[in-house]
Amino acid sequence: MKKVTINSLQKMKQAGERISMLTAYDATFARLLDQAEIDVLLVGDSLGMVAQGQKTTLHVTMDQMVYHCANVARGVSHAHLVGDMPFGSYQAGADEAVKNAVRIISEGSMEAVKLEGGAEHAEVIDRITCAGIPVMGHIGLTPQSVHKLGGYVVQGRGEDKAKKLIDDAKALEEAGCYSLVLELIPSALAAEITASVGIPTIGIGAGPSCDGQVLVVYDMLGMDDSFQPRFVKRFAEIGKTIAGAAKAYRDEVRSGAFPAAANSFEDRTPMVERSHKLYSVPGGD
Ligand code: KIV
Repeated sequence: MKKVTINSLQKMKQAGERISMLTAYDATFARLLDQAEIDVLLVGDSLGMVAQGQKTTLHVTMDQMVYHCANVARGVSHAHLVGDMPFGSYQAGADEAVKNAVRIISEGSMEAVKLEGGAEHAEVIDRITCAGIPVMGHIGLTPQSVHKLGGYVVQGRGEDKAKKLIDDAKALEEAGCYSLVLELIPSALAAEITASVGIPTIGIGAGPSCDGQVLVVYDMLGMDDSFQPRFVKRFAEIGKTIAGAAKAYRDEVRSGAFPAAANSFEDRTPMVERSHKLYSVPGGD
């Protein structure tokens, strides 16, 4: 399987091939998604909500991002890897933004960073790309600005707001972004943005005309019954499967059915005298 790069993504847009992107936060999920040939894995700051149980993405730190990025990178050989720049890591100025982007690439082993916002971040994006780091932009609903936006609501409704998003998309391309996430905007506006920039657009709640789609992996796997927004399609009901397996385990532990002989180690012969071993822990028997 060939490694996906920013060049492959650009070619996919030109060839009209749709890009698949999902979030990942640990090595095991990343390995499974990579095996499924997902094109782009995003270590999103959505981890604050789905993995840390926070109400917003605003509490995720640089150290936490770097930690999750490094874990995801260990599970991947095919997908293009993008690490989110968390809230506060790029808003205070270009110097600090470059230092933090460098950490995501060098300590986190990502291949690009993503940051939220429009033309106001053009200088920061230019400085990060000048440091040799590809930047994915993110406009529309930008969850790090949830308090300013007044909630998680559809953006770009009305002519002025739609025009502002189109201008932002062009400004981000001009500043050096290699792709753009479009979140929670009307489908027709996403289509117009996609047609007006040369870089791939990746939509979430932005309709079918984007060059690709992204979802939070826990959402599309059906891990949380309390979160079922319209833009998420549940491709599985893993939450129910996990709860069912946990209950079955609990019942077997209570009844003594688990562990059975097949799950236990009866043989007291030293390891060196055995003809073969099923499984061994380093340093263990
Ligand atoms: O943090 C995240 O997971 C994201 C995607 C939803 C695009 O930004």
